[in-house]
Amino acid sequence: MRSFFVYYLKILWLIALAQQLTGSAIKTTSEKAYKKLMSLRSLAFEDCGSLYKVNYLNIDGCSKTPCPMARNSSVKVTVLFDDNGNGVSFLKHEVSWLFTYSTKAAVITPDPCDGDHHCLVSLAEGKSYWANIFVTPTLPIMRGNMKWEGLSETKQTLICFEVPVVITL
Ligand SMILES: *[C@@H]1O[C@H](CO)[C@@H](O)[C@H](O)[C@H]1NC(C)=O
Repeated sequence: MRSFFVYYLKILWLIALAQQLTGSAIKTTSEKAYKKLMSLRSLAFEDCGSLYKVNYLNIDGCSKTPCPMARNSSVKVTVLFDDNGNGVSFLKHEVSWLFTYSTKAAVITPDPCDGDHHCLVSLAEGKSYWANIFVTPTLPIMRGNMKWEGLSETKQTLICFEVPVVITL
């Protein structure tokens, strides 16, 4: 199901790209369908003050929250957001693990995302970025939240979301 979805997503991106080139009139229809699909398929998250609307969140190995996060592993996170045509080309990640009695800073790669590693991609409908989060082996085996902030070069919060996770062995 998920691989079918990824395939479908690729087709949509191609359509969007083609429409960007031809300036087709059916663009609005596809845009609506795309946004609907994104919001239907996204993991549930809480927005904590994004400047730009986050349309879609995917965390590898997670189909519903709380997302299992295995200690000592790297987990890929993919986000689609609408930068309102502002050409965002830099994101500094500030990510933390929030537990009831403690907060730990998370290690993200690549960080910042500045266009190297193809970590930030322009789509007809906005931007997409990916990054790997390292699940530190010393994190407590319990439920918590992953708080993700993407900052501009001037430290403005462009993206902020929180998603429930559970640290596993
Ligand atoms: C973490 O994983 C690496 C290899 O993937 C391994 O060498 C290392 O011993 C692991 N550390 C812990 C604390 O489990």
